[in-house]
Amino acid sequence: MPLLGMNIDHVATLRQARWRSGPGGSTPSAPGQRGAAIGGTGGGASGGGEPDPVRAAHEAELGGAHIITVHLREDRRHLQDHDLERLTGVVRTRLNLEMAVTDEMVRLALVLRGRTGMPHMATLVPEGRHEVTTEGGLDVTGEGADRIRSAVKRLADGGLTVSAFIDADEAQIDGAVRAGFHCCEIHTGPYARAFALAGGDWRDAALGGQLERVATAGRRIQSANMRFHAGHALNYFNVGAIADLDGAAELHIGHAIVSRAIYTGMRSAVEQMISAMGRGR
Ligand code: PXP
Repeated sequence: MPLLGMNIDHVATLRQARWRSGPGGSTPSAPGQRGAAIGGTGGGASGGGEPDPVRAAHEAELGGAHIITVHLREDRRHLQDHDLERLTGVVRTRLNLEMAVTDEMVRLALVLRGRTGMPHMATLVPEGRHEVTTEGGLDVTGEGADRIRSAVKRLADGGLTVSAFIDADEAQIDGAVRAGFHCCEIHTGPYARAFALAGGDWRDAALGGQLERVATAGRRIQSANMRFHAGHALNYFNVGAIADLDGAAELHIGHAIVSRAIYTGMRSAVEQMISAMGRGR
């Protein structure tokens, strides 16, 4: 069964809805409250504000998550630099940093890695400020190919595993090979959309077609000696078929688990996702 990479960005999104101005901002901590390394509800070392994504990462690991995934966006709309810093002291599994292909992000990842040994992996993603969440795969074949190749080399030289978040497309996989990536994370959004439209009915041709696209991409990735990852819009219902694909090594999942955690708590939500991954289609 693949490993579960738990994306905790949405926990930070919820915090930022109230705590956008940060410690000492318009919604400061209650008097006397001090943030702890994990789970502080006040100000202090944690940076302040709840829910704390770093505590969520800790709880996710207690629930069995194998990897903690975060996206430090250029506009810092959810995760903050101080969250990333604290995660390096709390994560006991592996830390996967999703990032745009910019000089600032590459430098930040390398400096942090040099100082703390984390992140273990960088996943390069496209980044548009207008989008609510990552909407499409990175184009590794176009104008930016040289810049991407150079970023991959710098990160790999710094000891990071480097993954490309791409669409299930032959040309993109071949481009990822040329760029020197170690892994490809296939964008499962189109599959998830087909699953929802079909109501999960496997007799639906469009759903079968989308699953086959991901499976074909997975085979091509592995035959190029890269690790096959998948993610985006996976949930408790649609995850089984993707987890079942030959060679699927990691699934990166956020929204569905954070949503369920509101009712069940993070540990249980993660445990339930791992069970769903094991149930197959
Ligand atoms: N993988 C990547 C590269 C992502 O950017 C995201 C978040 O958008 C995810 C996986 C997780 O997606 P979701 O929150 O829909 O599970």
